Amino acid sequence: MSAEAPLASLRAVSRTYATDGGIVHALRGIDLDIRRGEHTAIVGGSGSGKTTLLSLLGCLDRPGSGTVSIRGVVTSQLDDEALAALRNEVIGFVFQQFHLIRSATVVQNVELPLYYRGVARVERRRRAAAALEAVGLGGLAQRFPQQLSGGQQQRVAIARAIVGDPPLLLADEPTGNLDAENAALCLRTLMDDAAGGRTLVIVTHDPGIARRCRRIVTLRGGECVDDRLD
Ligand SMILES: Nc1ncnc2c1ncn2[C@@H]1O[C@H](COP(=O)(O)OP(=O)(O)O)[C@@H](O)[C@H]1O
Ligand SMILES: [Mg+2]
Repeated sequence: MSAEAPLASLRAVSRTYATDGGIVHALRGIDLDIRRGEHTAIVGGSGSGKTTLLSLLGCLDRPGSGTVSIRGVVTSQLDDEALAALRNEVIGFVFQQFHLIRSATVVQNVELPLYYRGVARVERRRRAAAALEAVGLGGLAQRFPQQLSGGQQQRVAIARAIVGDPPLLLADEPTGNLDAENAALCLRTLMDDAAGGRTLVIVTHDPGIARRCRRIVTLRGGECVDDRLD
């Protein structure tokens, strides 16, 4: 691991899925470096490989071939436990469908990454409460997710993604299920937070969101067809 290593990098990464209809080539030979402090939008049509790419960057999936490195560590060399620990420390993930635990309260959802990290209960609660304040939901800690609006649920998910202070935020169409007002609010939280030193990679099909990112990576048919920095 070196100080200059990109936060995340993919080298010659391919991923196929076996389906009834045959082999689907979701990604074909992707090379990508995510550098510290950058805001990157991943764009491309439906089925172009955006979610697959983000899942690999987030170590939620392993490549069929090629390598994924996180801060210079090749993830295929780690066992499941070491990979989970690295992911917990480095990566915060926000999904289009929120993926909150319905049987847990808002604050319990937010403190989950700290629980897995072994942080003591009082400290967990303190930091979860601070993350909820940061997304404007300080008063809703004891509710359950289904008692919140979609926009509020996504802000809980964002609080969960940032509570452990990971350097890399990954978001897969985080505003896809939100109305315009809530989308703007969530986006501001993600981008402001990333402006505070965090690195953001956001999958979006919204050109307006993409334009707000300094770097835009375009996928087509599982290949990177454009990578521009303005
Ligand atoms: N679990 C899966 N099983 C089979 N095929 C999949 C699976 N996940 C994705 N795919 C296929 O891989 C391709 C890329 O999918 P995805 O990464 O989800 O694209 P995007 O997020 O850009 O819409 C698509 O053709 C999709 O149908
Ligand atoms: Mg997708």
